[in-house]
Formats: sequence, structure tokens, C-alpha cells
Amino acid sequence: MAVLITGGAGYIGSHTCVELLAAGKEIVVVDNYANSSPEACRRVQEITGKQFPVIECDIRDAEKLAAVFRDYPIDSVIHFAGLKAVGESCRVPLKYYENNISGTVTLLEAMKAADVKTIVFSSSATVYGEHNQVPFKEDMPAGGTTNPYGTTKYFIEIILQDLCKAEPDWSVSLLRYFNPIGAHESGRIGEAPNGIPNNLMPYIAQVAVGKREQLSVFGNDYDTPDGTGVRDYIHVVDLAKGHVKALDRAMQVKGCEIYNLGTGRGVSVLELVHAFEKANGIKIPYVIAPRRPGDIAYSYADASKAKEVLGWTAQKDAEDACRDTWRWQKNNPNGYEG
Ligand code: NAD
Ligand code: UD1
Repeated sequence: MAVLITGGAGYIGSHTCVELLAAGKEIVVVDNYANSSPEACRRVQEITGKQFPVIECDIRDAEKLAAVFRDYPIDSVIHFAGLKAVGESCRVPLKYYENNISGTVTLLEAMKAADVKTIVFSSSATVYGEHNQVPFKEDMPAGGTTNPYGTTKYFIEIILQDLCKAEPDWSVSLLRYFNPIGAHESGRIGEAPNGIPNNLMPYIAQVAVGKREQLSVFGNDYDTPDGTGVRDYIHVVDLAKGHVKALDRAMQVKGCEIYNLGTGRGVSVLELVHAFEKANGIKIPYVIAPRRPGDIAYSYADASKAKEVLGWTAQKDAEDACRDTWRWQKNNPNGYEG
């Protein structure tokens, strides 16, 4: 039997493919390459020495999806496919609701028709919204998201919860990622953002490689130890391993479960800058800029549930991630474009 990986050519998807293959699973990837390159899956095959089907397919294409379920012995799905740029989602919200929500509903219908009822979904810590206090815990009220991207995650969580209520033979795992950073230690796969990066770590990496002059630190007047925003940065390889554990559990337990995937530790913007400098011996010039609208002072996980139930904890720290990011960035200054 095989696991269908939607969005498997993307940043987190490609790293998860490596860990699933290492765990002996069979996989099938579908991706429409809206934000990725076929080269990523080629490199996953190179790293692991294993071949697997990679199909260019949009998850909104019901017929093509039905054919994938017909052609391969799929018994479970890990669902990464989605658009994720927060700023863009504010400018073109319908594009996000259509791709992320309609795409997910189409996928769920195809699963149901094929009698596949186990799904692990990429949610986000963004569903904790602005009003909860850190550390964020799975049983806190979700919602109060501040942008359409975040709202798609919240709505999809509700859709999957409703599905489990109506049809108790489904197994759903909602994984709330904190801030994924880093790259595979081979330096062959990593994060390849289009254009100017929105997120902190890829921006630091592009300053390090000389593509950007300096980092803008968005606010140093938060109520945090050094005034800059605090986040829970999770190494993407640890995150990928969390999916293997979550999938194994979902194959055994029916119903909907929610897990935070984070380290449980908060790291400030300046701490991450200094970790990068220390790990790689490179100075990162920065200036203090105004706060970015929608940002919160603190976001970090209570990571105890994933430890107790899934037996998963993050093994790597921010310096490991900085070292791995830099190896990926300097070997692939233009991402997968050579
Ligand atoms: P990514 O953009 O690298 O990967 C997403 C993949 O989905 C891409 O390969 C893209 O081409 C594909 N895709 C998008 N729409 C599709 C469609 N309609 N049909 C088929 N494929 C489609 O992003 P990522 O960082 O790997 O994120 C993976 C998932 O995790 C996303 O759902 C994202 O929202 C979620 N997530 C990411 C983060 C983060 O910081 N990276 C944090 C929380 C949650
Ligand atoms: C952002 C999104 C979140 C999404 C996540 C992963 C917003 C408001 N939130 O989270 O919904 O799930 O990315 O894609 O966009 N920073 C700088 N300079 C920069 C970039 C960032 O100082 O150039 C700071 C930010 O203010 C923040 C921290 O670095 O304090 C982390 O930012 P980022 O990497 O964008 O992640 P989040 O804002 O946590």
C-alpha cells in the first residue's frame, strides 16, 4: 500500500518524502508545481536511492485525482498542497479560498469515492489567532485568524472535524506546525521561495549569500526579552519525522486528533540572527524597521501532547537549522533553478 503525498514537491513535502521512504513506506506524489519544481522529487530519489511515482496533478482536478486513486494502491494521504503566502492571500483572498478549501474538498471526495479515509493535514499555529496566551495548547479555542491564508487553515480544520463527526470511520490528524526552518543535511533539498522572501530564515539566508543587502527586523519594541518577536522554530527534518509518527497513529486510531509540531522553545528574531552568525561565521547586517501588521509578540508550542501520544520530540536546535539552511543556500543560490 502507498501514501499519497499532495504537494510533495514543496518544502515540507519533499523532506517528508525522504523520511517516509527511510521508514520503508511506499509513496505517490501529486503536485501542480504552483510553488515548486519537479527537481525537488528528483533529488529526493537521489538522496534516498528509491524511485516513486510523481504525477503532475492539481488537487482541484477531480477526474485526474480519481485516476490516481484508481492507478495506485493508496491507503492514506498526507495533504500538503496549498498556497501559503500571507500577504498575497490578503490581496487575492478568493484564490486562496478556492485553491486551499475547494482543493481540499475535492481531495476528500476523491478519497471517499476510493474508500481511503486516513488523512494527515498541514495546519498551522496561525489558527491560535491573536488572543491565546503562549504556550499554545491543542485544546485552546482556535480561530481569530488575521488573514485569509490562516482562515483557510482554520476552515479546513473545521471541515475535517465535521467529517469525522458525520463519518466516524475517518482518521484525521491535524498537525499545527510552528515555524519550519532548515534543510536536509545533504544540502540537496530546502526552501526555495519565489521572489523576495516573506519569512525570516529564507531572508537571512539571502542576506548571507549576498542577494539582499540587509535584514529588516520588524519591531524591537515588543514586550519580549530583547523587544523582537519570539517564535518556535522547528527544523524541517524534525517536522518531517513528526508526519511519519502522526501517519502511523492515524492508521490505528479513528476520529480527529490535533497535534502541535514545535520545539516548545521560543527564539527571538535577534537570537536567530545570532545563531546563524555563530553557526556559519557570517555577519548578517540588519536594521530595525517598524512592526509588520498582523504580527504577534510571542508564538510557541506546548509540545507535550506530541511527545506523550506520538512519541515525537524535536531533536535539532536553531543552530543546526542555520547550518543546514546555509549549506542548502550556498550550494543552490537560485533554489532548484541551478
Ligand atoms: P510549499 O509551497 O513549498 O509546498 C506546497 C506545495 O503544494 C507546492 O509544491 C505547490 O506547488 C503545491 N500545490 C499548491 N496548490 C496545489 C494544487 N491546487 N494542486 C496540487 N499541488 C498544489 O509550502 P510548504 O512550506 O512546504 O507548506 C506545505 C503545507 O504546510 C502548506 O499547506 C502550508 O500552508 C502548510 N504550512 C506551512 C508552513 C511554513 O512555514 N512553511 C507553516 C504552517 C503550515
Ligand atoms: C508567518 C505567517 C504565518 C505563517 C508562517 C509560515 C504572518 C503574519 N504570519 O509566520 O501565518 O503560518 O509565516 O509561513 O505573516 N521577521 C523580521 N524580518 C523579516 C521577516 C520576519 O523581523 O524580514 C520577523 C517577524 O516579525 C516575526 C519573525 O521574524 O517576528 C518570524 O516571521 P516569519 O518567518 O514571517 O513567520 P511568522 O510571522 O511567525
